[in-house]
Amino acid sequence: MKVLIVGSGGREHAIAWKVAQSKKVDKIYCAPGNAGISQVAECVPITAMEFEKLAAFAKEKEIDLTVIGMDDPLVGGIVDVFEAEGLRVFGPRKNAAILEGSKAFSKNLMKKYHIPTAAYETFTDPEKAMEYLKTAKMPIVLKADGLALGKGVLICQNLEEAEAGVKELMLDKKFGAAGNEIVIEEFMTGREVSVLSFVDGNTVKIMSSAQDHKRAKDGDQGLNTGGMGNFSPSPFYTEEVDEFCQKYIYQPTVDAMKAEGRPFKGVIFFGLMLTPDGPKVLEYNARFGDPEAQVVLPRLENDIVDVFEACIDGTLDQIDLKFDNNRATVCVILASDGYPVSYQKGFPIEGLEKFEGKEDYYVFHSGTKFNDKGQFVTNGGRVLGVTATGSSLKEARAKAYEATEWVQFENKYMRHDIGKAIDEA
Ligand code: AMP
Ligand code: GLY
Repeated sequence: MKVLIVGSGGREHAIAWKVAQSKKVDKIYCAPGNAGISQVAECVPITAMEFEKLAAFAKEKEIDLTVIGMDDPLVGGIVDVFEAEGLRVFGPRKNAAILEGSKAFSKNLMKKYHIPTAAYETFTDPEKAMEYLKTAKMPIVLKADGLALGKGVLICQNLEEAEAGVKELMLDKKFGAAGNEIVIEEFMTGREVSVLSFVDGNTVKIMSSAQDHKRAKDGDQGLNTGGMGNFSPSPFYTEEVDEFCQKYIYQPTVDAMKAEGRPFKGVIFFGLMLTPDGPKVLEYNARFGDPEAQVVLPRLENDIVDVFEACIDGTLDQIDLKFDNNRATVCVILASDGYPVSYQKGFPIEGLEKFEGKEDYYVFHSGTKFNDKGQFVTNGGRVLGVTATGSSLKEARAKAYEATEWVQFENKYMRHDIGKAIDEA
């Protein structure tokens, strides 16, 4: 089989690496990919939003399966374009990717189908939003409706901050059209857990749980980022929590999408908050997480191509999805200092060869490229996802941090406390 993967980050590297283990696959392409991905796939210089070019490429190369890693093309309807050309593709259609693409849509869906989430109101008129805030309980959360690179969420401690937030999102349009509509919702407290799942339109099967570290600095300080590292599984995702979520969140979400005439096929990423009143949905994503894919896929025991195909064919109920639950994984992101605001790139990266042939250690590339001398150089805010598995979270964490020392580049920055609170709990 020939497989094409669309995207260019650590998530797509992890997907490509897992696809490469499939006995069915003899050729992998990635568009546009990155320097690390080029070790397992042939990278093609077509960007993720060039749907027609990608579909033409897939036809020309007789690609058997295309896997979409990123949110933007999914929300933009890449799957519909591929399907119209008769191409097999893994991911939700545009009318289902809206689950991630519009927070107002997903909140309304949860309300209609009684799926537990924070209480909320939606607004398209900034004056009405300001009026509502006057009597609202603080702290309060403001969310831009559309995609905003995970940064369109503002947690406001008081009325002044909340009013400034409405101005930023709706009047100053800090995130552009994403702020035409906003969701104002109740502030929830509790542990956050990410749960990725495979979905075939009817059946949902969850992967191992994970916990992200979204803030840039140690101790959850600093700005929100795409994710500075994470670990899997989460010790807080107990059997009891799982049972509740299966019954009240996962299957009801899939059934709701079907009932709305928007059957979802692909990956649903459930962002959950374990509140004192039980698990509630913080957000949905319509794809693997980055870096959640990096900590979950190394422990997936199935041939991932079988799982992708079962999602497309509606036969996921016949797949016995298995994870090595006796092991844990930790991923520490090596970033460029200054991320997520401004940073320099183009610095040579040394030491990547130290990962070669070492079991349990992985380095997934997020933002790298080759310079004209053929050396790996930094090419993004998040550069590498240094990942290790171990027999416990503590061991995985120690190994991941040991491996962060193998790699050097100017401007290297990382958090030192990925999984630490859990270690000490
Ligand atoms: P989201 O993109 O909706 O997941 O929001 C990003 C982050 O903001 C989440 O991971 C939470 O840490 C925080 N957050 C979002 N919604 C709420 C809420 N209702 N209460 C408390 N924190 C929230
Ligand atoms: N790590 C969070 C995300 O991929 O959205």
